[in-house]
Amino acid sequence: MKSCTIFAVQADGANIMTIEGLAKDGELHPIQQGFWEKHGLQCGFCTPGMIMSAAQLLQRYPKPTEEQIRHQLDGNLCRCTGYHNIVKAIQYAAEKMPAK
Ligand code: FES
Repeated sequence: MKSCTIFAVQADGANIMTIEGLAKDGELHPIQQGFWEKHGLQCGFCTPGMIMSAAQLLQRYPKPTEEQIRHQLDGNLCRCTGYHNIVKAIQYAAEKMPAK
């Protein structure tokens, strides 16, 4: 959910995960690590949205296809990277995350 499309009161009682909540005990989440390893960001403006969108995708589809990744990201705009490395970062995370 994009924070600009919902009133705070509509989230009353819901669990809210932000990018700050992904890392645990000082260890980057695999998606964050993927963005680091695969150079998935430049200015970083779009990165929180990209990572949270990827987290939601990987919850639904632990091993997404490239097409599924690109479809998931089509509402997130990046002015810097051209998306190629962002897709590679999410594929990296899918490989590193344990299957549920
Ligand atoms: Fe700059 Fe995406 S890294 S807008």
